[in-house]
Amino acid sequence: MSKQEEKGKPFYITTPIYYPNANLHMGHEYTTTLCDIFARYHRLKGEEVYFLTGADENTEKVVRAAKDANINTKDYLDETVSGFKSLFKMLGISYDQFIRTSDEEKHWPGVIEMWNRLVAAGDLEKREYKGLYCVGHEAFLTEKDLVNGVCPDHGEAPQELTEENYFFKLSKYSSEIKQKIETDEIRIIPQSRKNEILALLERGLEDISFSRSADKVSVGVPVPGDLSQRIYVWGDALTNYISALGFGTKNGDLYNKFWPADLHVVGKDILRFHAAIWPAMLLSAKLPLPKAILVHGLITSGGQKMSKSLGNVIDPLMLIDEYGHEAVRYYLARYVSPFEDSDLTLERFKAVYNADLANGLGNLVSRIMKMAEVNNIKALERDIELFKKTNLYEQIDSYFVEFKVNEAVDSLWSLIKRADNDIQTLEPFKTIKVDRKKAEVDIKVFLAYLIEISIKLRPFMPITAGKIEKLIKENKSPEAPLFVRKD
Ligand code: MSP
Repeated sequence: MSKQEEKGKPFYITTPIYYPNANLHMGHEYTTTLCDIFARYHRLKGEEVYFLTGADENTEKVVRAAKDANINTKDYLDETVSGFKSLFKMLGISYDQFIRTSDEEKHWPGVIEMWNRLVAAGDLEKREYKGLYCVGHEAFLTEKDLVNGVCPDHGEAPQELTEENYFFKLSKYSSEIKQKIETDEIRIIPQSRKNEILALLERGLEDISFSRSADKVSVGVPVPGDLSQRIYVWGDALTNYISALGFGTKNGDLYNKFWPADLHVVGKDILRFHAAIWPAMLLSAKLPLPKAILVHGLITSGGQKMSKSLGNVIDPLMLIDEYGHEAVRYYLARYVSPFEDSDLTLERFKAVYNADLANGLGNLVSRIMKMAEVNNIKALERDIELFKKTNLYEQIDSYFVEFKVNEAVDSLWSLIKRADNDIQTLEPFKTIKVDRKKAEVDIKVFLAYLIEISIKLRPFMPITAGKIEKLIKENKSPEAPLFVRKD
């Protein structure tokens, strides 16, 4: 067996890199948790997973936010990023690397190499440009995108800019990218997003401004050989997916092993950047294309996109504080659709927590473990052995293959419901008094249910899964409920 086979096949998964101009909210947390669920699932399947996340730091938003907070940009960035990391730690986000685009040693060589390749392909050209720039989007908008002269997503009028910039010949790649997406060489999931991007490609892409004048923007990677310009923040940011692997540096081991990415996970608001601009950059640079892009919907709050500019954000820390991090993971995994927009309110969160976790899973674990402990009935050894295997995943593989993470969790809760109903019907706590043998068989079956549930729970709620496993192995009921009911 080769070394690689021993380790399992490589699986490279990425989150977008987050803007550190504010703390992360539940929307960002969703993208990250979704990736974490995939990363854990693939690891449990024995694959060698590399999970990348990070921060998109070379942006005017950050400079503005630091100014507003009266802190210098570097300190502001360090503080915000350390907040991201501690949130990810709390939520059990098992990333392998956190890339920061202000990292001149790690990230910038890859960006410079990418730029040089675009130049070598003849795809960058200096042109005079006049346009409407939205700092919220970090992109140029057209009149059509505006509502009453204002960007509807960010509630601000864009800046009118006239600059001489380098242009990237994006238009050149429309039909090639279209063909790659049509044939699933780059899979875009779900189909509705695939159709959306194909329609855009059918209309044809326009060349885009790929640099900004250095006296207009104070951050960003300088254009090689032309210090009057800085590289456009999205060109810089998208390159993180390969710079993090050492592309453009002498150490390309990770790049050679993990690129092309198996899965980029992004929200629908940044589909165009990932399914048009990024593939075009890669084609121009003569690099392999990512295999799949999962485009999730947005979390809305009261029907509107959750965003800092709209002031309707739900702070993950507040929910973690009240309900615990595993409950937050659970909610995101099951009640936010990986494909459509989903509304999140505090009332709904609480109702779900009480019904599914306190009364559902938590109560089931207590009931079964109590019967087992009090009557000294242990799970069958062959069932306990299952903790070491991964074959139980086959039943949820079908959901994962189709990226239906929420349905995988639904199926798990059907199992919980079935176990609850069976306890209700068989009443082993009564039978034990008259027919110990029968009750023993039943309780062992319930323990087997719990084993299956806890194994399948691992990618979604790793800590809870571990707690149930420990209780089963020690044959103990929990000292305190796993999820305390909230009134
Ligand atoms: N910095 C860019 C990404 C660069 S990737 C090369 C960016 N950052 S972001 O912080 O604004 O958003 C990061 C991710 O969070 C995106 O996938 C975005 O869709 C997601 N979300 C931000 N708000 C969201 C919701 N309200 N709901 C769900 N996810 C949303 O874009």
